[in-house]
Amino acid sequence: MGKPRHFVAALLLLCGSTAPTLANTVTVDLTAGKAISPNQIGIFFEDLSYAADGGLYAELVQNRSFEYAKADRPEWNSLTSWKLVERDGGKGTLTTDSSAPLHPGNRAYAIIEVSTPGIVGMMNAGFNGIAVQAGENYNFSVFARPISGSRDAITVRLEDAAGGLLASATLAALADGWQPYTATLKPAASVSDARLVLLSGQPGRVAFDMVSLFPAKTFKNRPNGLRADLAQTIADLRPKFVRFPGGCLVHGDGLENMYRWKDTIGPVWQRKGQPNIWRYHQSVGLGYFEYFQFCEDIGALPLPVVPAGVCCQNSNFLVTRAYGTGQLGLPLDEMPAYIQDVLDLVEYANGPATSTWGAKRAEAGHPEPFHLRYLGIGNEDKITPVFKERFQMIYAVLKEKHPEITVVGTVGPFPDGEDFDAGWKIAGELCLPMVDEHYYKSPQWFWDNLRRYDTYDRAKSKVYLGEYAAHDDKRRSTLRAAIAEAAYLTSLERNGDVVAMASYAPLLAKRGNTHWSPNLIYFDNTGVFPTISYHVQQLFSRNAGDTALGISVPNLPALAASCVRDSASGDIILKLVNGAPEARPLRISLTGAANLSPSAEMTVLAGDDADVVNPDGKPPVVFPVVRMIPATPAFEHALPANSLTILRIKSLSKP
Ligand code: AHR
Repeated sequence: MGKPRHFVAALLLLCGSTAPTLANTVTVDLTAGKAISPNQIGIFFEDLSYAADGGLYAELVQNRSFEYAKADRPEWNSLTSWKLVERDGGKGTLTTDSSAPLHPGNRAYAIIEVSTPGIVGMMNAGFNGIAVQAGENYNFSVFARPISGSRDAITVRLEDAAGGLLASATLAALADGWQPYTATLKPAASVSDARLVLLSGQPGRVAFDMVSLFPAKTFKNRPNGLRADLAQTIADLRPKFVRFPGGCLVHGDGLENMYRWKDTIGPVWQRKGQPNIWRYHQSVGLGYFEYFQFCEDIGALPLPVVPAGVCCQNSNFLVTRAYGTGQLGLPLDEMPAYIQDVLDLVEYANGPATSTWGAKRAEAGHPEPFHLRYLGIGNEDKITPVFKERFQMIYAVLKEKHPEITVVGTVGPFPDGEDFDAGWKIAGELCLPMVDEHYYKSPQWFWDNLRRYDTYDRAKSKVYLGEYAAHDDKRRSTLRAAIAEAAYLTSLERNGDVVAMASYAPLLAKRGNTHWSPNLIYFDNTGVFPTISYHVQQLFSRNAGDTALGISVPNLPALAASCVRDSASGDIILKLVNGAPEARPLRISLTGAANLSPSAEMTVLAGDDADVVNPDGKPPVVFPVVRMIPATPAFEHALPANSLTILRIKSLSKP
């Protein structure tokens, strides 16, 4: 009897030179599977290393609202990144004031005083230069208020570093009070270090605030939007969720510095910036609205994290020099109002446009809800009685008022120890749906802990691995680190019934302003530089499934594997990781195979030298290579040294 066409013959495919022994067999049982989280791979966004201001947030003017201060960074003041310009005999001053602000949340503003006619004004150097492209439109805007003397129109120019003109526009003549003025600038040349210059000429005093310049082409052309190339690189990861706004930024450096979501919505000139715990300034221009919008634009679930009513345990560290001693709790009589803020966030995301906070979302241009389903409370806080009391209060109300929201608790900064145990104890007592684990460890640690979740009690809280990365020698983004992460991801996938979500951290870092290493994506003002770890995350995210198939992997050092089925496509996706410095011949046996395509798409990320990193701005040394190979129920294949291999076998029957 002839075999059905799709029946895959037991043809052996030998890709390696050394034949594997039977002991080196990876066996997948296609008939045995368990449901796993379809939303496992997401991203962690925090404004550290200039991830938002100077990074993803496309604003090109630094210190646009003159709010920089010593509290942000000791050497900063309200005129940081600004300079007085005096040309053609003009004389004047550039100062700041706060006596008649544009908005109570945005107090400081600049005053240009022209004392001797000529040309007088101010110049902004952006975030280490303003990168502009010839022929593209840039949207300029400012609020101005004439105080005395001349009301002549202000000239706005884009200049190169030598003062050469790139683009210029004249604003409307000044009217009374704070008024907005706009212009479009189209540079004649592309430069990476342009300056924005505002010029006046006749004697008088004019106040300015919210001096802004955005590329017209932001991601999805959103106003007040995101830098298109960076946002696209993130979108290309196809993350299933986006955590925001951190990280330590969530709970802040002292109670006054906790991230208050209400300060981050509404017109940008009404938002209240504040010092960033990473020692710079948060303009909060990329606030909660932009965050929810970005999630929607890239098809990811939002996973906001709110403070648990306590500040970071490392608050005030620069003064105390004592880690772990700075946690303070909001006074208990402030907790009801704080809890109401948390409830209001849910309403802002999901409430009807007629509700108080839903109406604010609608005013911002989004009457439809943002479909919030997850909410984290706390970020790796020290688990103290002060924390526990406040966490419980918030959780009790959220659970009662919003049973539809999956609340994510926190279990400290490490994979074990006091806070970890105490956090898990609380999770057990309160039957929390999910907890957030964090750990940054050596590549070897990840290899040594591939079985971590195999023994987790499935009846307890699910795990969100909210922050992790393999920290290699000198915290470089090596192939060794990326392969260890890939191995670990196979273990998360095998345990996708308990590890519901995972996000590598941190996501972004600007070269020259990096406060933490390594990061998934580096960038500067003109380029975006994904690391090898980025490719690993992308390959797992794009090859996710919703059923983990039974797999047996030989107990050999530096070998890991997982296999999933994606029920939408019916595809079987096998992931194999070899952390050894030489190729590893394997026999791969797919038992119970039926209706599978006789060919498979094979993607390999590999390199001979585990120590390499992908260089900035140059062709990557390590990147995924895709080809088709014949697929059979049993075949031999040699995994390259230091490699992640993904075999995607299509189903011939419709799922
Ligand atoms: O990801 C960098 C930092 O690491 C986060 O802000 C914090 O949560 C963790 O300690």
